[in-house]
Amino acid sequence: MSDNTNRVTIDVLGERPYAVVIGRDLARDVASFLAPGTRQVAVIHQPSTSAAALDVAAALGGAQFIVTLIPVPDGEGAKTASIAERCWSVLGQAAFTRSDAIVGVGGGATTDLAGFVAATWLRGVQVVHVPTTLLAMVDAAVGGKTGINTAEGKNLVGSFHEPTGVLCDLDHLQTLPPADLAAGLAEVVKVGFTSDPSILELIHENPRAALDPSSCVLSELVERAISVKATVVAADLRESASDGIGREVLNYGHTFAHAIEQVENYTWRHGDAVAVGIVFEAHLANVCGLLADDVVDTHYEILRSIELPTVYHGADVDRLIEVMKVDKKSRGDVLRFVVIEGIGKPTVLAGPTREQLVAAYAALGRDAS
Ligand code: GLY
Repeated sequence: MSDNTNRVTIDVLGERPYAVVIGRDLARDVASFLAPGTRQVAVIHQPSTSAAALDVAAALGGAQFIVTLIPVPDGEGAKTASIAERCWSVLGQAAFTRSDAIVGVGGGATTDLAGFVAATWLRGVQVVHVPTTLLAMVDAAVGGKTGINTAEGKNLVGSFHEPTGVLCDLDHLQTLPPADLAAGLAEVVKVGFTSDPSILELIHENPRAALDPSSCVLSELVERAISVKATVVAADLRESASDGIGREVLNYGHTFAHAIEQVENYTWRHGDAVAVGIVFEAHLANVCGLLADDVVDTHYEILRSIELPTVYHGADVDRLIEVMKVDKKSRGDVLRFVVIEGIGKPTVLAGPTREQLVAAYAALGRDAS
């Protein structure tokens, strides 16, 4: 819903409803998400978002909160047990209580860590997310997934801990490197294919505007992607739906994407891997007779129009299959993929044969028709 301040608020319903506010110049709004009685706030941020964190800290300080800044490394370097321990130690020294709060300012890795620290400190304190990348706005910061990595893999330790509010300040996107903005759009395109075809139309008609952080097209794309995510997580927070696809729908493209990320030692941007992942999973559905050629072609057309990768042949297919088998989304050693049977028609494909996987991998990079 849009109000007279040019902000859009999307409510995430569920056990503990919260608002996602999308707009510009929002630093002062953080305080409005804190419960009455909050005294101290720890702002967890990465070095590259120090300016945004200082704005948030100044606004909170002006509203009489006691603020502690906790800098953490950029990117996945923040999501370790030792960084979480460092945060717990700062909270302990500042005598943080159950009624105090954490604010995560940064990309998805920072908000994942901030959420995890909030989930675990005193068995759970309030957290507000201020995502500064497109990927974090449309995916990581909304929906309550928190976690850190271990030597064995990504997000292996974590919990569901919903924020009390999320502030998507589109001004942060002005300084985001263009390749990171495009990578964030991969998650938006994913939602277009699974759930909201008007996203694909918007990008098809305005690919340049989709890549322009000051455009109304990009803000509409953000709003649409978050609306879908809000509806999905409100219905199935813990990805445990017994009826229908539930939260698993958000994994379109992700089984193959995670395999690329792992074999490439996490040197790929997550969004770039997701772009290739949805193309692979479209080919897989096509090979299995579930998806028409022209919809596979639409994947290439949309992703290429916004400069996202659509091909990967950097590893042997059997190596990728092995990696996918240990992905969190697999059950036993049965591979599971979210695929689509048409635009807006997601479903789960369990146990494709090796031949089908090999054929989809061979087709990757090649328009179907
Ligand atoms: N990023 C997928 C999810 O939130 O479930």
